[in-house]
Amino acid sequence: MNIFSSEFIKSNTDVRSCPETALPEYAFIGRSNVGKSSLINMLTQKNGLALTSGKPGKTLLINHFLINKEWFLVDLPGYGFAQTGLAARERLRKMIDSYILLRKPLINLFVLIDSRLEPQSIDLQFIEWLGVQEIPFSIVFTKTDKLSVTQFLNNRKKYEETLFQTWETLPLIFETSSKTGKGRVEILNYIEELNDQ
Ligand code: GTP
Ligand code: MG
Repeated sequence: MNIFSSEFIKSNTDVRSCPETALPEYAFIGRSNVGKSSLINMLTQKNGLALTSGKPGKTLLINHFLINKEWFLVDLPGYGFAQTGLAARERLRKMIDSYILLRKPLINLFVLIDSRLEPQSIDLQFIEWLGVQEIPFSIVFTKTDKLSVTQFLNNRKKYEETLFQTWETLPLIFETSSKTGKGRVEILNYIEELNDQ
């Protein structure tokens, strides 16, 4: 799929204030600093569309971007960022959870996982919660440019083995790098497929 337009529409703190639309949307979630905003910029090939930072806790709102005037990409705050304090973390978590549970146009959630790390309990718990809630999701390994192919395959295998302990079948898995553009075509093709259903 070609991207010919991508525009920022709205930021807000509450699922009830999200754009009133029936257009399909796809959201990105994962731990703070995992690369959600960078992936949106990579997919749209528009640096600075979503704001990124070397420090975790950059995205603190629900951000809607309209793509090709036909569908939305949604940048969400990260979960599990300790330094925001318990109250702020709880508030963000509620914002994210209610978006995921209540947002009708949400077609698929992309759960981003840092490919450099072994399976992390915070990500596994989140994935388990998605299963309980029956939310459709895919897994996206990020920052694959930062490790060797062997290291990456090793980490991916560990993840798959861990997920197989709970899941009979694995979700779709994408391998990405916002630096090199790896995975862009695959994710956009998948979105196109879902848009057409
Ligand atoms: P929050 O909004 O704080 O939750 O973070 P985020 O998940 O949106 O992460 P963000 O996109 O802001 O990226 C965090 C840092 O990781 C930035 O310094 C990015 O440049 C870097 N980064 C993101 N993706 C990649 C990648 O694929 N490769 C490399 N090398 N760096 C990346
Ligand atoms: Mg962000």
